[in-house]
Amino acid sequence: MNGRRRSPLITIAAAAVAAVAMLAAATAAFLALQGRAEGAALYEGRQPLVARVSGHEQPLPAIAARCINCHEGAQAIGPALNERTLAQPLARRGGPPSRYDAAALCRLLREGIDPASVLVPRAMPRYEIDGRGCEALWAHLQSR
Ligand code: HEC
Repeated sequence: MNGRRRSPLITIAAAAVAAVAMLAAATAAFLALQGRAEGAALYEGRQPLVARVSGHEQPLPAIAARCINCHEGAQAIGPALNERTLAQPLARRGGPPSRYDAAALCRLLREGIDPASVLVPRAMPRYEIDGRGCEALWAHLQSR
């Protein structure tokens, strides 16, 4: 047998490894898209979140907790939320320049504390949101 010829087994194994790698890449791309879609649903309120005005026990009606109510359009009382306003260093509310990542967004949503440790105004509700929800919202806001 020619020693330089690849055994069929090795060829099959290499093809299998390549197929698994392609599948992994496709899965990762799919999950990223799914995350963004979930983030958009949370942002627009199609997937409701439990939220409260800081210090209040009673949750807000789901429709009042939608991010778009306060962060979109001419009536917006909060800043536009996108890659530029969140991921780039910016002086916010008199604090030193700071930027968000998914964890910082999570903290802001749950506790109202920004990346420079400044408290946001009470008009920004506090949310019950899990890590997955924060990641999804972050992925969506980054894509805008
Ligand atoms: C009832 C109105 C309201 C709703 C609903 C609301 N926000 Fe806000 N949000 C605000 C206000 C007001 C601020 C603070 C603006 C300021 O500091 O002048 C704020 C601030 C923020 C900030 C800080 C931005 C920065 O530059 O530091 C982020 C991030 C944010 N909101 C995300 C969200 C997300 C995500 C949702 C939905 C899950 C949401 N908000 C829902 C009113 C709202």
